[in-house]
Amino acid sequence: MIEVRNLCKAYAGQTVLQDVSFDVRAGEVFGIVGHSGAGKSTLLRCLNGLESYNSGSVKVMGREVAALPQRDLMRLRGKMGMVFQTFNLMARKNVFENVAFPLYTWGLSSARVRERVTSLLELVGLAGKSRERVQNLSGGQKQRVGIARALALEPAVLLCDEATSALDPKTTASILDLLESINRRLGLTVVMVTHQMEVVKRLCHRTLLLDGGLTRALDRTEDLFLLPPDNLQKLVDEEYTLIPTGVNIRVMFPRGTSRQCIVTGMAMELGLDFSIVGGRLERYLDEILGFLIINVDTENAPRVLACLEEKKLAYRVLATEEAGFSGGFEQAGPGGAAAVYGTGAASPAAHGGWQ
Ligand SMILES: Nc1ncnc2c1ncn2[C@@H]1O[C@H](COP(=O)(O)OP(=O)(O)OP(=O)(O)O)[C@@H](O)[C@H]1O
Ligand SMILES: [Mg+2]
Repeated sequence: MIEVRNLCKAYAGQTVLQDVSFDVRAGEVFGIVGHSGAGKSTLLRCLNGLESYNSGSVKVMGREVAALPQRDLMRLRGKMGMVFQTFNLMARKNVFENVAFPLYTWGLSSARVRERVTSLLELVGLAGKSRERVQNLSGGQKQRVGIARALALEPAVLLCDEATSALDPKTTASILDLLESINRRLGLTVVMVTHQMEVVKRLCHRTLLLDGGLTRALDRTEDLFLLPPDNLQKLVDEEYTLIPTGVNIRVMFPRGTSRQCIVTGMAMELGLDFSIVGGRLERYLDEILGFLIINVDTENAPRVLACLEEKKLAYRVLATEEAGFSGGFEQAGPGGAAAVYGTGAASPAAHGGWQ
């Protein structure tokens, strides 16, 4: 559906995107994450030709975006609906007028416009709100209008730039449900730019991590978070205060193992006690995956790591004051002093690795 190859973009000599390459497959929800200023919005705007690029290639549905004549570019934008963080609605107009706007622009008859807007408002759960002024709506309702408007021209791709960043968690969840049902029911390809980790985990089949305009990682979302690279880890809001002594180990429980008592089994097997620092079950698309952070004495850590290796569990030794810890399995991690990774079956190596 979308092919990006060696994309480079600079503003006044300052590089914003550097050699970015990826494909978005038809029907998938593709996530783009990264810190503020990473180049996410710029990348998204390159996809629908709102932004030019210096070198490389962006092909949408087989055609090079930069080479499109103006008329074809307008058509392409019609095929790529856009949803924004700040909704970008006409506040003084009502819901109907906002959704109808792109349809009138394309010259549809009043009867066709009425029919299409009615079905779109039903789809986004706003039937009956058609005459309501947009400024009187809640944030979640405004974003539903934004989504309906983005879908007006029956696009093949929906580009979302921080579509849920201005919403509270409950409203975010309802908008994500809506986007998921649109992706499934209409088979629409969705590209989600976000800095919210829960959004990619909940919705995105694959995720690209951008950092300073460079691609740092690209993988199935589940695999990416199973053993996140350091710069993704920084983005993940760790709610846990690590124990400053001993060794803190994050153990990941992949598909099918979250509910087994692996850690207690290991404690009995090794005759050791662990402190539990924290843990969580998280939903990745339709799967529930879990992790647990345990703390063990430095002297016992090698045995625990050997046991995790044997059980083929992915793990990661987290940075502590004893960052010099070397458990015998140390590998060249992406830059952290305490980058000790498990090499079990669930590790990235077994999934083909990430770039
Ligand atoms: N029109 C512009 N002119 C000059 N510089 C720009 C322009 N748009 C973006 N930039 C710069 O390009 C870099 C990437 O910006 P971009 O908006 O793509 O980041 P982002 O990842 O979307 O950030 P955020 O999460 O804050 O939205 C930033 O350094 C920004 O200042
Ligand atoms: Mg942005």
